[in-house]
Order: sequence, then C-alpha cells, then structure tokens
Amino acid sequence: MNTYNWISGSPEETFTFAAKMAEHLKPGDVLLLEGDLGAGKTTFTKGIAKGLGIQRTVNSPTFTLIKEYRGRMPLYHMDVYRLEDSGEDLGFDEYFEGGGVTIVEWAHMIKDQLPDEYLEISIRHLGDNRRSIEAKPNGKRYVLLCEESFS
Ligand SMILES: Nc1ncnc2c1ncn2[C@@H]1O[C@H](COP(=O)(O)OP(=O)(O)OP(=O)(O)O)[C@@H](O)[C@H]1O
Ligand SMILES: [Mg+2]
Repeated sequence: MNTYNWISGSPEETFTFAAKMAEHLKPGDVLLLEGDLGAGKTTFTKGIAKGLGIQRTVNSPTFTLIKEYRGRMPLYHMDVYRLEDSGEDLGFDEYFEGGGVTIVEWAHMIKDQLPDEYLEISIRHLGDNRRSIEAKPNGKRYVLLCEESFS
C-alpha cells in the first residue's frame, strides 16, 4: 500500500496536524507510533487528544502502560517501551475493540498482540525542529483515513 508523508517544522505543527487527523478518527481505530526518543510521538498524541475534545493533559505514560481519556470517544494511550514481549496475552484486545481510539507508542514491542489492521506512523528527526511524518496504512480503513488526513 502507498505511504503518506508530511514534513513538520515545529512541535505546534505536529500537534495541529494530529488534531486535524483526529477529526477523521472512528471508534476502533488503532494508530501505532514509532520513532526514536524525543521524535514527537507524545506531541502527536496530545494533538490527537485535543482533536477528540479531551480536556485533560496527556502525558507520556512511561511508568503506566495504558492511560484512558474521555472525549468525543475514549482515547487509550499505551506506551509499551518498558514492556518486554513475553508473548503473554496482556489483554490489549479489550482496548483495540473497546469502542475508542487506541494509540500505541513503541508498538513493535508487542508485535504479536497487535490487531490485523492499523495505521503505522513513523516520526523521524530531520533537524532541530523538523520532523518527517510517514504513515503506512494496513487495511482499507486506514487508506481512507490517510486520504482524509494528508490532503
Ligand atoms: N516538529 C516537531 N514535532 C514534534 N516535536 C518536536 C518538533 N520539533 C521539536 N520537537 C520537540 O521534540 C520533543 C518531542 O517530545 P515527545 O515527548 O513528543 O517525543 P516522544 O517521541 O514521545 O519521546 P519518548 O520516546 O521519550 O516518549 C519535544 O520537546 C518537542 O518540543
Ligand atoms: Mg513519548
């Protein structure tokens, strides 16, 4: 499937881009966020939260595996950086199928437990404040989401 690319010039631009993408999100959508430490995964998640009408501050849940926020629909924010993929079933499906939007930072750590379809978003440093945001849709639903979000 095609990939979709966009260049961000500042944290604010990343936030606004994500907030606009959030307007097109539907219950059951799953976004995987990849990128090095400090790439902008949590900044992107904060934008999604804003776009979902969530008032509470979204923090990087480094010491908490999953945080749940209430907005236009629930947002489940997972950061699985500290988790080792033991292959043990930790019940992530309840979130993926839970009627909200799930965002997973460092999703490759739980690759055996991901749903069949998702949008993979990779954020890369290009310079001080420049980031490349590349999205790879896995499934038709996410092609549509990219068409709506990257136009
Ligand atoms: N264009 C940009 N988009 C996003 N963040 C940017 C950009 N330019 C600079 N930054 C800065 O980079 C940092 C990104 O931090 P953030 O917590 O979002 O990264 P992260 O990928 O979640 O890191 P971690 O892996 O530690 O959780 C922030 O300090 C932010 O201000
Ligand atoms: Mg983070």
